[in-house]
Amino acid sequence: MWEYYDKKTVFLTGGTGFLGTAVLLRLLSDAKCKRIYLLLRGGQSRGRQKWGESLPTATVGWLLQHHRLTVLNGDISEPDFALTHDQLNLLRDEVNIMIHAASSINLTQTLPKACKQIVQPSEAVARFGLQCYNLSRFVYVSTAYANSHLHMLSSEEDVTVEERIYPLSNEASRPVSEEYKELQALGTTSEYAVNDFPWAYGYAKHLSERLIMAMFTEAERYDQLLIVRPSIIGPAEYFPFTGYNVLTSSPITVVAAALANVPAVELQFASTMHDPANHATIDEVPVDVVVDRLLVHLAHGTTGCVHAVSGKVGRISMKELYDAIVALRKLPWAPRVAWLYESWHYEGQHWISKLFKVFGTSFSFSEHRTVALRDSSPKEALQGFVLFKTADAGPYELYSRHRDVQECAFVISRRMNVLLRVFSWIVWSC
Ligand SMILES: NC(=O)c1ccc[n+]([C@@H]2O[C@H](COP(=O)([O-])OP(=O)(O)OC[C@H]3O[C@@H](n4cnc5c(N)ncnc54)[C@H](OP(=O)(O)O)[C@@H]3O)[C@@H](O)[C@H]2O)c1
Ligand SMILES: *[C@@H]1O[C@H](CO)[C@@H](O)[C@H](O)[C@H]1NC(C)=O
Ligand SMILES: *[C@@H]1O[C@H](CO)[C@@H](O)[C@H](O)[C@H]1NC(C)=O
Repeated sequence: MWEYYDKKTVFLTGGTGFLGTAVLLRLLSDAKCKRIYLLLRGGQSRGRQKWGESLPTATVGWLLQHHRLTVLNGDISEPDFALTHDQLNLLRDEVNIMIHAASSINLTQTLPKACKQIVQPSEAVARFGLQCYNLSRFVYVSTAYANSHLHMLSSEEDVTVEERIYPLSNEASRPVSEEYKELQALGTTSEYAVNDFPWAYGYAKHLSERLIMAMFTEAERYDQLLIVRPSIIGPAEYFPFTGYNVLTSSPITVVAAALANVPAVELQFASTMHDPANHATIDEVPVDVVVDRLLVHLAHGTTGCVHAVSGKVGRISMKELYDAIVALRKLPWAPRVAWLYESWHYEGQHWISKLFKVFGTSFSFSEHRTVALRDSSPKEALQGFVLFKTADAGPYELYSRHRDVQECAFVISRRMNVLLRVFSWIVWSC
């Protein structure tokens, strides 16, 4: 597989993020790309700062002076990405592979914000990709939870999501470009009003997928497009090192930090499932599995959507997650979980459940395409790639990242009031 990358020029966005940093390190360590252009707002100094938060100092130094890496100081939400004409022309000429992994992942942003931070930049990056004469592959990193609205539409409680685009239900089906125009003009759309998404973020990623798909299809370059949908990204199993994590980009780490030492006797979560205590599930996938699925499907020439998930076998129940959280607890009692039969937007539930919304749901994200690729490839071709979460890792636990959870709890409490800050410092430090 790695030969595919020989002498290729790569353009990467999001290279300071949880996923993008790992993609960058994997390419620089194992592929023989000619050059990697990294679009980074704030340039080298931003890179030094962001990488310094999750990587060893030596690795940051190695990245910053790497002869195959060129950092471009730019911003995908600005016209021309705030690059010079010379830089743009150079990229148009040289780039063979584009990996668009930059995105806001803020779950509370409003739809107009998500339009500016997610849809519009993604449309611009794809449009630029189509202008690159020598482009052979374009990867858009979406999210498996872009289809979380199916929870409300499905008659099943455990919702199967296939690796394809689900058109949104609305009164008047129309070209996606019209929907995008309405969003830009009015700040919302009839599709958004009719389909119950947990967050504007989810809808924005769904719309971006459809926009990019339409652009590549219209240009008759559908075969160049790959959409990778990670579930909830979690710490690395192996690469770049065991436990590699970006605290605030790892949702389960944030959830654990918010709940482990909560001074309550009861936690209220909302769900419309009949027995969420036993049937709600969460799909967390190690970041290195996402990286390897992305790079293997890219090289293999896979088109359309691919899930990067733990799937039906690797996902965990909410109960397992909660038990793992309680195991980190320092206070002498564990709060009882009360499931309320309410919608995921229910105001009265605990704030972290209200933010996360999908506690009381269950999705079975198909991973047929990766299974098929594994089964049809010679063993040697996939040697060294981690395409599936290690199955025999034992019961789900969070102890191995307890330091991350603790640090994340401090970050969260800093945003709360002084009393909570003091409380959290005392409890976690004892
Ligand atoms: N984290 C998850 O659990 C998860 C789950 C499913 C899918 N995803 C998707 O995976 C992708 C990567 O997410 P992540 O977890 O790596 O997120 P992250 O850690 O928050 O990183 C986001 C990256 O995007 C960059 N970015 C955002 N806006 C930008 C702009 N206007 N111009 C240039 N760069 C910009 C950020 O740059 P700065 O350093 O300058 O902020 C950062 O490098 C995203 O598409 C996300 O939607 C994530
Ligand atoms: C890119 O494509 C153009 C036009 O097809 C060609 O002239 C040029 O040599 C190519 N550049 C590279 C670096 O391959
Ligand atoms: C997310 O967006 C909301 C609403 O725009 C904002 O108040 C909040 O500060 C953002 N959170 C982060 C972590 O950027």
